[in-house]
Amino acid sequence: MAQDSGCSLNSDKADFDSVRRRDAEQAEKERQEARQRDLEKALNRAGIPERFAGKTFATYQNLGTSQKVARSTCELYADQFRAMKGNGVCMILTGSPGTGKTHLAVSVLRNVIDSGNTGLFVSVSEMLRKIRNTYAKGSKQTEEEAFSMFVKPTLLVLDEVGVAIGDEEKRKAMVFDVLNARYNALRPTIIIGNLTVEEMQSYLGERVWDRLMEGGSPVVAFTGESYRQRAPVKEAG
Ligand SMILES: Nc1ncnc2c1ncn2[C@@H]1O[C@H](COP(=O)(O)OP(=O)(O)OP(=O)(O)O)[C@@H](O)[C@H]1O
Ligand SMILES: [Mg+2]
Repeated sequence: MAQDSGCSLNSDKADFDSVRRRDAEQAEKERQEARQRDLEKALNRAGIPERFAGKTFATYQNLGTSQKVARSTCELYADQFRAMKGNGVCMILTGSPGTGKTHLAVSVLRNVIDSGNTGLFVSVSEMLRKIRNTYAKGSKQTEEEAFSMFVKPTLLVLDEVGVAIGDEEKRKAMVFDVLNARYNALRPTIIIGNLTVEEMQSYLGERVWDRLMEGGSPVVAFTGESYRQRAPVKEAG
């Protein structure tokens, strides 16, 4: 009799443990699903162009020394960003068309967002257009709101730096306002362009360039042929 009751106590405990384990597993599954949903929302909000949606470090081929150095610099930057929340250190990617600058910058951005930071990808012309649109009569957004869109994200990727847009002095002043506010808030920016380093300095202005360089920001030069013009790889068989 005593043995029977012991057995039933043991089996009650086993049932209880297994229910508890199932509940814990279910709660963990729901937490992971919620995290995945938040991540997808953050990636959707990050403005990554459709063409680059699937581009990652893993899909970037090391075709030569230049690509190898570029990729490992960007991977290191992403690792350090995750470790130090960016710490305000920027990165400059320069070089000829089709050499993978945007691809690698998007890979860094995705990595940074994956680790719970906010990030935004925008071309310099789109950023300036969004700010200028607020000057129009009846604009729903104020100039401050537009600025804060570009100042708030932990990481901003500013692409196509070098494209001539509007009045040079006004353009320089707007870019300075955004990048200076980010600098003051210790939020890093990745700058991408086809210009040489000297041309980029002159496009952005000395004061912006000086801020961008603080803390030993890497400047990565991309060289070689455009990946866009490579012959398509033939399928085996
Ligand atoms: N090393 C590489 N491995 C795999 N794909 C690459 C590589 N380099 C470039 N690509 C691909 O080639 C295309 C062009 O690359 P990307 O747009 O990043 O070049 P870019 O340097 O930003 O050019 P641009 O200065 O004209 O904007 C993209 O589809 C990109 O994914
Ligand atoms: Mg590009």
